[in-house]
Amino acid sequence: MATQQISKTPLSKLRREVSRPFQQLARGVKRVARPKHAPAPVVVISPPPASIANFHPQDCTVEPEGVALLQELVRESKQFPGPIIEVGTLVGITATYMALAKSPEQKIITVDAFCWNPWGLSPDVHEALARQLLQYPIAKGEVQLIRGDKNEYYRNYKGPAPALVFLDAMHDYEETKKDIEWAKRVGAKIISGHDYCDKFPGVIKVVDEFGGPRRLGGTVWAL
Ligand SMILES: C[S@@+](CC[C@H](N)C(=O)[O-])C[C@H]1O[C@@H](n2cnc3c(N)ncnc32)[C@H](O)[C@@H]1O
Repeated sequence: MATQQISKTPLSKLRREVSRPFQQLARGVKRVARPKHAPAPVVVISPPPASIANFHPQDCTVEPEGVALLQELVRESKQFPGPIIEVGTLVGITATYMALAKSPEQKIITVDAFCWNPWGLSPDVHEALARQLLQYPIAKGEVQLIRGDKNEYYRNYKGPAPALVFLDAMHDYEETKKDIEWAKRVGAKIISGHDYCDKFPGVIKVVDEFGGPRRLGGTVWAL
């Protein structure tokens, strides 16, 4: 009995000591080291910022059914000569899905003003993150990332008729209408976008005014 107690106490103590920093980390508690006889330790409680606390990567991009349709549209667009233009890059998740489905000759242009992101990043940090995540297809010349306001991009567009446009920047009626009108004006062969759903009644209204979605996958629509 006595032997058991002697060997059990140091072991459980050791386990407690080893696991303490991890438990503190998990609780977001950081102890600041102090010299002997210094005042009571300062306990810093650092919960993650609210914008990131309940974040899941799926929340900031297209749902799997939508990705399936988007990639199908990209494959269909191979028959047309122009570029694929995405409006609303965020950090390049859908641009990457499109790059995976496109043919080697096709080029993706993705446009973003870096004016919104779900993490509260400054525009410059947001852009740097997007460029870092897209560095492989950018370096290979498969993707071109343009920083700028979409409406200015539309005004200055002098390129060929896009094979496909994917509209995923602003999801209100007026802005989505401008997006679709521009895509039609420049002769885009396939016009699609995100968020045809109750949360964005403006998207539903304007897509319906243009004849309704010819195809719908998740909330990705194609005219
Ligand atoms: C929903 S996110 C795009 C998500 C991305 N397509 C994906 O699923 O991976 C919308 C993006 O549109 C951009 N945006 C919003 N308004 C814009 C505008 N007027 N011009 C250009 N980009 C804009 C925001 O900065 C943001 O990065």
